[in-house]
Amino acid sequence: MQIVLATHNKHKQQELALALADFKHQILSLDDFPQIGEIAETGTTLLENSLIKARTVNQLTGLPAIADDTGLEVDALGGVPGVYSARWAGDNAGYRENNLKLLTELAEIPADQRSARFRCFISYVDQNLELWANAKVEGIILKEPVGQAGFGYDPLFFVPGLNKTLAQLSAEEKNRISHRGLAIQNFRKLFIEKIQPEYK
Ligand code: IMP
Repeated sequence: MQIVLATHNKHKQQELALALADFKHQILSLDDFPQIGEIAETGTTLLENSLIKARTVNQLTGLPAIADDTGLEVDALGGVPGVYSARWAGDNAGYRENNLKLLTELAEIPADQRSARFRCFISYVDQNLELWANAKVEGIILKEPVGQAGFGYDPLFFVPGLNKTLAQLSAEEKNRISHRGLAIQNFRKLFIEKIQPEYK
């Protein structure tokens, strides 16, 4: 049995595969299907985009597919960038440009008003069934990056309960508390209930 992670993003692959390490399924990713390029995220919500990616990969491979879509919601910016987190600073923007934009947009915002959260939707699609789950992690956007691990906005996202940014955590530690790690745990409960009780 195989499941495809519907992403080319190595960091997401690592975090998702770690959270599914005890599955008997062989975990594949889009790196195993180089003919499948980037999938256009044409939805207007995280749920829609995660479903679009999982449905597309299920259709193209004939295999069960898992996709995630994540957004960073910054309260002082009215919830932006949200579903547009990936290309916030422009179509060709990378993590660096997006982080710079975040620092610039929040330059005048004091420490006690820099609350934010990562929200993640995980969708699973096979020939018969669609499942989805979500989760979030609350944090504070720092004034400068701290930490080398993780990816994306992680070095700017401080988690008060841990006194660390997400970029100061190992993949295991991040999975324990993060939007993606918790969403996968919620997905696992549904998966066990609906499909594979032996993973309990
Ligand atoms: P996507 O649309 O789910 O690929 O994610 C949107 C953007 O959010 C990515 O390009 C990253 O910049 C950021 N992102 C997603 N997940 C994480 C995370 O776990 N930590 C930090 N940034 C993330």
